Amino acid sequence: MRRIFTASDRVREHARLESSLAIYLPLTVKLFVYHTPEATPTEQLPDCAVVIDVLRATTTIATAFAEGAEAVQAFSDLDQLLAVSEQWPATQRLRAGERGGKQVEGFELGNSPLACTRDRVAGKRLFLSTTNGTRALQRVIDAPVVLTAAQVNRQAVVDYLQAEQPETVWLVGSGWQGTYSLEDTVCAGAIASPLLEQQQLTLGNDEVLGAIALYQQWQTDLFKLFCQASHGERLLRLNLKDDIDYCAQTDVLNVLPWQAERGVLKAK
Ligand code: MLT
Repeated sequence: MRRIFTASDRVREHARLESSLAIYLPLTVKLFVYHTPEATPTEQLPDCAVVIDVLRATTTIATAFAEGAEAVQAFSDLDQLLAVSEQWPATQRLRAGERGGKQVEGFELGNSPLACTRDRVAGKRLFLSTTNGTRALQRVIDAPVVLTAAQVNRQAVVDYLQAEQPETVWLVGSGWQGTYSLEDTVCAGAIASPLLEQQQLTLGNDEVLGAIALYQQWQTDLFKLFCQASHGERLLRLNLKDDIDYCAQTDVLNVLPWQAERGVLKAK
């Protein structure tokens, strides 16, 4: 007798085929690393953009969420930040501004992750502008998925990429005023490395392997690397060694900042 396949038979069969194929054909993400916002293409966008500013904007963003911040709204322009934050209830906002590593005058916070304590940030929206990190966010603001990564929340980003497998992913370093930075590249390598090990990665550009090599060389002494980086030296001159020490930790925060609406990050 001829067997009649029901709709649920078909769904089951499809799932069986998919899982058996996955053993032979692991899905991969096509990964690109861009060292600075300036090096990031302007004519196209990836399915997922990951913005990295280890010293210190994306470390501060991850920490603010771990301590209960409601959202982080990012601005490259200070005047625009002031105008928009003015419309937000004063008791529910914090203005966080940094230029040249220093806190912007008149703002409640600078860009130190260590200042993001629960009693200060819980339930609040941070209106944030930094020298390079918020400019990098601006560059990919129209990508369908925008995440932020630092060493402290690296694993949360890797978990997302492995689970969702977006077809194209850009890791965008913030650098320093258009120039390469060691700390953002090593973090890009720390994200790319497990994807390569598990064959979930297609190389989009040569920078990916360069970033992985840097990470493999320095993964056990990131603090030392960060102190030698030009922005690390700048922070040391400003007596911010504890910030560098904090930013050099790997996988200590299980938070995934993502862009919920244009320019507004929330925690997943
Ligand atoms: C930046 O955006 O360039 C940085 O996060 C600078 C800093 O505050 O360390």
